[in-house]
Amino acid sequence: MASAHPRVLAALGRALSLELTAVQQYLTHASLLEAWGDQAAADRFRRETVEEMQHSERIVKRMIALGVAPAASQLRPVATASDLLSLLELNNVLEDQLVVHYAEALRFCRLIGDTLHAEFFQALLEEEQHHSVDIANWLNELRPVPPLARASF
Ligand SMILES: [Fe+2]
Ligand SMILES: [Fe+2]
Repeated sequence: MASAHPRVLAALGRALSLELTAVQQYLTHASLLEAWGDQAAADRFRRETVEEMQHSERIVKRMIALGVAPAASQLRPVATASDLLSLLELNNVLEDQLVVHYAEALRFCRLIGDTLHAEFFQALLEEEQHHSVDIANWLNELRPVPPLARASF
């Protein structure tokens, strides 16, 4: 059976906790948005939930391949807010935590020459970076445009 450095196993465990936290958070936000009557945003959040679920599944499969029982025990409470813009800001924070975690896991795997897990974490890092960009773009669409500076001529 394949093996991995204990810190790589710990990184997989924390990754699963963060991904399942994201699943719980986006699922809740999708339901909130639906309750507020914003079906389009709810659908977009639901798609995000599926992607985070697929990330969770990839991590579980990797752990099983290493003979490790998944045991995500650090599921965080859902962070909620009362409008879409604030929900997105909260999700931005969560995506940033995922990006930081995967960047650190990738750095460590490269350091110890574990190319298999370096590739595994790099793929997840790139996908979370895309999520961060998507959220940032959506936030920019929603934020009110500042009034034009008064013409001085
Ligand atoms: Fe994810
Ligand atoms: Fe994500």
